[in-house]
Amino acid sequence: MRDLDETTITDEVLQAISRTPDARVRDVSEAIVRHLHAFVREIEPTQAEWEFGIDFLTRVGQMCSNVRQEFILLSDTLGVSMLVDAINHRKPKGATETTVFGPFFVEQRPELPLGANMSTGVDGVPMFVSGTVCDVSGRPLAGATIDSWHSDDEGFYDVQRREDLKMRARFRADDRGRFWFWSVRPKFYPIPDDGPVGEMLAAQGRHPYRPEHVHFMIAAEGQETLVTHVFIEGDPYLDSDVVFGVKNSLITNYRECQPGLAPDGTEMAVPYLLLEYDFVLSPELRP
Ligand code: BEZ
Ligand code: FE
Repeated sequence: MRDLDETTITDEVLQAISRTPDARVRDVSEAIVRHLHAFVREIEPTQAEWEFGIDFLTRVGQMCSNVRQEFILLSDTLGVSMLVDAINHRKPKGATETTVFGPFFVEQRPELPLGANMSTGVDGVPMFVSGTVCDVSGRPLAGATIDSWHSDDEGFYDVQRREDLKMRARFRADDRGRFWFWSVRPKFYPIPDDGPVGEMLAAQGRHPYRPEHVHFMIAAEGQETLVTHVFIEGDPYLDSDVVFGVKNSLITNYRECQPGLAPDGTEMAVPYLLLEYDFVLSPELRP
């Protein structure tokens, strides 16, 4: 193991890790070495470029806190999160497609009864959200939990500029798998871009925006938990989502409704939007 040069070093490193006892750790370690060495051979970085790369990753780590995960943003903006999502959700036909989880889910979200408004006191256009939760054979999933969260009408999540939790809640589907609740219309927004990931996007000539969407996480006994969003037709960023999360099957449109009786019997004094989406969960994969 002496006098290694650029033609011999990769094999020597692979040899050194070939006796890794755990097979998965060995496979992962070997793949990292093969791909990293191939990357360096392709790029042929100068010493200064290599130091810049190390400094960039250091700053990504330093930006992380309990309310900011810059490494996940890096994974999201390089398309890695959606690739991992795709590999892990090869769904049966008819099941609702998945997309990125994102950093704005909050464990302590309120649990509200069906029909409640999860955005009381928040300015914006009223939005009535409703739909069903079924399995792939069309059987309604009574009691499924429906978590939803989204931005306000200026593109900010509650955790970005409020003290209280709004525009997010957990609901429980009724005995026919139906759910419905009130909120306010969200807006497209930039992902947090005041850190190294934002610098990277600027250097790549990319914008930091995600198209308007409502997040859902839906869980039911015996089914794979579904993490997805519903997007809105016509949004200017549908074809350039900074985290590559848009799927055609997840795009829908609002129905614009005039003042009057809403579907849940609420007498609306102002115009409101109806967002309807039916979710299909796939069976839980058993090991
Ligand atoms: C989100 O949709 O909340 C999100 C997803 C990925 C990165 C940033 C935000
Ligand atoms: Fe989001």
